[in-house]
Amino acid sequence: MLIDYHRRLAADSVRTEAFRRAIERVVVPGVSRVGDLGSGTGWIGFMAHGCGARSVSLYERVPSLAKVSQAIARRNRLADIQVYPEDSRAILDPGPHDIVVSETLGNLALEEGIGEILWDARRFLAPGGIRIPSALTLYARPVSSSRYWAELDPWGQGGLGLDFSPLAVLSRQNLYVRTFSEADFARTPEALPWDRVDFRLRFRARREGTLEWTVREGFTLHGFAIWWEAELVPGIRLSTAPDQPPTHWEQIYAPIRTPVALDAGDGIHLVIRSRFQDSQGVDFRWQVTTPGGREQLSIRAGDLEKDPVED
Ligand SMILES: C[S@@+](CC[C@H](N)C(=O)[O-])C[C@H]1O[C@@H](n2cnc3c(N)ncnc32)[C@H](O)[C@@H]1O
Repeated sequence: MLIDYHRRLAADSVRTEAFRRAIERVVVPGVSRVGDLGSGTGWIGFMAHGCGARSVSLYERVPSLAKVSQAIARRNRLADIQVYPEDSRAILDPGPHDIVVSETLGNLALEEGIGEILWDARRFLAPGGIRIPSALTLYARPVSSSRYWAELDPWGQGGLGLDFSPLAVLSRQNLYVRTFSEADFARTPEALPWDRVDFRLRFRARREGTLEWTVREGFTLHGFAIWWEAELVPGIRLSTAPDQPPTHWEQIYAPIRTPVALDAGDGIHLVIRSRFQDSQGVDFRWQVTTPGGREQLSIRAGDLEKDPVED
């Protein structure tokens, strides 16, 4: 168990307040039966208990975390909290819940399995039951600043006089967790949504989004920043956008392999293909087409076993 990770989650007041408001909005005191799928320390489930939920079931697959939440429930004499030290998807015949909450969101949103978990939540929910979050939107925005791109090739700096370009190619094809500010973007183009997940619907592990921007003022394209916005319940949102209050999550940087100077009127065409499957990890590819520039396909380095390294 990484206690510091869970401490950071609890200390992220933007996250905690958004979940608290969502739970307060939907929990009916003395009536609602709440399930927390991926409960960690139990923090969100305990919040639901504090809002008057009739019962709270915590499902956590890391045994040491489940044990800690059990100890907290015992210490506070919370008889109406049940802890299941199991993967939620392995639970047979889960009791009916009126509300299922899952905070299994990563920096890239779907990589911790929230899509599969909340689709499986249909087995947990009574008719008309509520999922928190209810939906998710992913955004991308072209990056103009060179600061993160410039960090990607330290290989030549060791003074060995060798050509390390195969390593540089790999590091330009990876995804990076980074924090962006307005200074990293040209005034235009703006962020656009490229994927949306409605958690009530069957989750598709393979996903694809296509974006088109038209450049209004010239800049050099150094890749894309990616972030998400979750709708917890209608009207209550949690966002990792660079212009929103900071959370423990950051944005994702998807570099371009070779920066491209763009002029006003040029178009940027971006196709993102991803696959999020618990058993197979994350597959992420992004293909950029710009006028005059050749098409640049990047395959996240983690997946390069399947693809030859370029000479
Ligand atoms: C991001 S942490 C959040 C913990 C907690 N929900 C909170 O908000 O503090 C996600 C937790 O979900 C657990 N987890 C992920 N998938 C799970 C699953 N299918 N069943 C049970 N636990 C799961 C992980 O072990 C981890 O402890």
